[in-house]
Amino acid sequence: MTKVGLIGTGMLGEAVGLHLLESGYDLNVYNRTKSKTKKLAENNATVFDSPKHMVESSDLIITCVKDADAVKEVLFGNDGITSGKYTEISVADMSTINPTSAQEISKKLHTMKIKSLEIPVMGGPNVAINGGLVLMASGDKELFETHQKIFKTIANKIFFLGESGSAHTIKLAMNMQISLLALSLSEGIILMKKAGIEPEKFLEILNSTYFGTGMSEKKAYKMIKNEYEPTFTLKNLKKDLDIITKTAKDFDAVLPITERANKIYDDALAAGFGELDYTGVLAYIEKISRTKD
Ligand SMILES: NC(=O)c1ccc[n+]([C@@H]2O[C@H](COP(=O)([O-])OP(=O)(O)OC[C@H]3O[C@@H](n4cnc5c(N)ncnc54)[C@H](OP(=O)(O)O)[C@@H]3O)[C@@H](O)[C@H]2O)c1
Repeated sequence: MTKVGLIGTGMLGEAVGLHLLESGYDLNVYNRTKSKTKKLAENNATVFDSPKHMVESSDLIITCVKDADAVKEVLFGNDGITSGKYTEISVADMSTINPTSAQEISKKLHTMKIKSLEIPVMGGPNVAINGGLVLMASGDKELFETHQKIFKTIANKIFFLGESGSAHTIKLAMNMQISLLALSLSEGIILMKKAGIEPEKFLEILNSTYFGTGMSEKKAYKMIKNEYEPTFTLKNLKKDLDIITKTAKDFDAVLPITERANKIYDDALAAGFGELDYTGVLAYIEKISRTKD
């Protein structure tokens, strides 16, 4: 069986790793902050002190880190996977980064004779733990075919989208939906509270219509109870909104609602709400509503 090396065991990476272990894979792991590999180690993952040392005993390296700088660090940095001896290594990057950086990284890996794919995903740790992600791949199609089994373990829907960069462009349009849906639910909930109507009633009716979503059926019930335990932090969604804004500029696309959403999440981040789940944008809007009273 393919030996997987997982770099980045934050919220998403840890869940993906636990599911790979449960599915019978041999798993090597590295995380900059070693304590975050504890749960994986307890489930028989082998923990490494650097990406460089993990390379020799891994067939496929999956990276799941914050942003493009972090991806470059673990691939090309001092202790990155390319800093040591390697043969026959392949890389699949699951982090959400901008399509241009993804293309640059892919080109650089190609010149180093390393095959690569981008595999951004939809769904958080709560579905990753059962292999329920949706995976969008782009880059080396042969590599995608070779590792179908792993990708089908990680995700219950997988899509190959073509050349490097394309998976991320679609992923960004997905995260645009996440950020706007969280805002529209927040504003609906606030309107109900201000009008003295139970927000549950709003959700019950919304979810009886064509306009209900997974978010209004699940997360929204936590939002109305002010429960914001993160599965995807507001600060990471804000990072993605910055990437979307930059990518829109690169493609000469005008995205007026996304631009405004970015400003609201930026204000929420500046006001100290970054470590909450992204749905904590509701808590921020409630705060500014109170100031207005
Ligand atoms: N959570 C989700 O629902 C979800 C869904 C789809 C996609 N994603 C994407 O998946 C990626 C990981 O998300 P997450 O939710 O797991 O985030 P997270 O819990 O904040 O974890 C971030 C990870 O990146 C690592 N990292 C950050 N900067 C680094 C650097 N300079 N060098 C090496 N490692 C670095 C962190 O290491 P430390 O522990 O040392 O800080 C940690 O392992 C992000 O790109 C995110 O946008 C997340």
